[in-house]
Amino acid sequence: MSRAIGVFDSGVGGLTVAREIMRQLPNETIYYFGDVKNCPYGDKKREEIIENTEKAVKFLINQGVKMIVLACNTATAAALDYLQQKYDIPIIGVVQPGARRAIQATENNKVLVLGTKFTANSKVYDREVEHINSNIIVYDKACPAFCPFIEAEGNLIPDATKKLLEETLTETKNLDMDTVVLGCTHYPILKKDIEKYYGDKIKVISSGREAAREVSTVLTYEKLHQKKLNKKEHKFFISGYSDNFDNIASKWLKKSIKAEIVEL
Ligand code: DGL
Repeated sequence: MSRAIGVFDSGVGGLTVAREIMRQLPNETIYYFGDVKNCPYGDKKREEIIENTEKAVKFLINQGVKMIVLACNTATAAALDYLQQKYDIPIIGVVQPGARRAIQATENNKVLVLGTKFTANSKVYDREVEHINSNIIVYDKACPAFCPFIEAEGNLIPDATKKLLEETLTETKNLDMDTVVLGCTHYPILKKDIEKYYGDKIKVISSGREAAREVSTVLTYEKLHQKKLNKKEHKFFISGYSDNFDNIASKWLKKSIKAEIVEL
């Protein structure tokens, strides 16, 4: 089966999931779509998030992808159920895998989820975790400044990041969680800084690895795995000009990336 896997995010965040899929499933081809024109999604209303996500999903389906990964917690919270009901192609999100990973990781049954405003307000992690283990307490913290900070050029320097974390996360230091979930796929780009900020006793986890494992399970179940012989080049699409996408993508994926701009 030589079709690609469609990976979607509002911007660069889903690259953290794409990288993990590339690592775990090296025979697979990825078609990535970053909706940079409408980023950030985290401050938008559900209807708008659904509308933007659906446009990108349709674009990827028209490119012939065999499955879609919503590599965006916000889009997963807002649009996953709707899209799964509407389209025949397998579509998975990142929240369930992230919640499962948090359940494995916590030992004191207290978990903090950092996410966008929409994700935090939706309480989607609380529901997913409670569904599996209702002994676990989930705290949600919205970090609306993180995504624009990561998407803008030139911000990713240690001092600026440290200041941002101090400004946003101070109150969460008083919570007694032992696990922090990066509930936005942009945040693994700051993972080392966030780990340093919370110190050794707190585990910081992202859903990318688990999401990639879920991709593998779906491909096996649907008999859609790619044979090495058919491997094609990965492709990257963005919805508008971005001063930073190619830079971050090239750095994160360790090869030169030039995304194609497409109008949706
Ligand atoms: N990377 C996204 C997420 O996982 C979206 C961030 C945003 O666009 O606000 O939630």
